[in-house]
Amino acid sequence: MQPSQHSDVGTVLLQTSGLTKSFRGLVALRDHSITLYKREILGVIGPNGSGKSTFFNLITGFSKPNSGEIKFRNQSIIGSATSRIVELGIARTFQGSRLFASLTVTENVLVAAQLRHPVGPLNAVLRGKQYQSRQSAAQDITTKLLAFMGLGSQAERLAADLPYGDQRRLEIARALATEPQLLLLDEPAAGLDSHETKVLVGLIRSIRDTFGITVVVVEHDMDLIMTVCERIQVLATGEVICVGTPDEVRRHPRVREAYLGHE
Ligand SMILES: Nc1ncnc2c1ncn2[C@@H]1O[C@H](COP(=O)(O)OP(=O)(O)OP(=O)(O)O)[C@@H](O)[C@H]1O
Ligand SMILES: [Mg+2]
Repeated sequence: MQPSQHSDVGTVLLQTSGLTKSFRGLVALRDHSITLYKREILGVIGPNGSGKSTFFNLITGFSKPNSGEIKFRNQSIIGSATSRIVELGIARTFQGSRLFASLTVTENVLVAAQLRHPVGPLNAVLRGKQYQSRQSAAQDITTKLLAFMGLGSQAERLAADLPYGDQRRLEIARALATEPQLLLLDEPAAGLDSHETKVLVGLIRSIRDTFGITVVVVEHDMDLIMTVCERIQVLATGEVICVGTPDEVRRHPRVREAYLGHE
């Protein structure tokens, strides 16, 4: 199934095929394949240890597959450095927080925005016109993203001092500041209360609609997944057991088996 409503519907953004990763004999992901389309929201679910974060780690170059292929915009990204993959347009958040705790909220986002608007050490020293314009472009994006994520009033606080829910949204703001075409969210609702989760659902939709990007959400929160995702891929012990619409996945016998542990 492909998402509808937009002109670039059906355009492939990323494709994995035969992707396998093992750690000392344990197969974390086996023969994984998925095709991601532009502007879709895909959910990835599966019990603990089923390979969801491994899938993200492989796409973002944090870990190298033993075999298989990953193509982003029709170009292989296997073996590319994580920094190159960000430049190409893939951003992620992590299951555990990786904010710069001692930087302010603004600074956390600004460092990411500077990837697209690099000032460079020489420019930073000379502080010429190019420095001014790049710095103000990065600042502009940062301000807009903080407002978009509901963090405008927290801009000058230290990241470490933010309430937990705000920290999670700051991580998403920081990922968006790299201006990705593909955003990978690893358990963005973990630790959020039901109100914060509801806000997050609205934000995920809004991110896709506003920026026109593809979003992949790994989550254990089934309500969130079923509400926000157009397609869902289910993993169990490293294997893809099905891909389909929320309804198809809900009805799939192997999904029940994977979660309940019996036929
Ligand atoms: N760096 C690593 N070294 C050794 N084993 C690893 C490593 N990373 C992942 N694994 C193993 O690979 C399997 C898949 O892990 P992964 O983190 O992808 O699961 P997950 O689906 O994200 O689980 P969770 O829902 O708990 O986050 C697990 O058995 C895990 O212990
Ligand atoms: Mg994980």
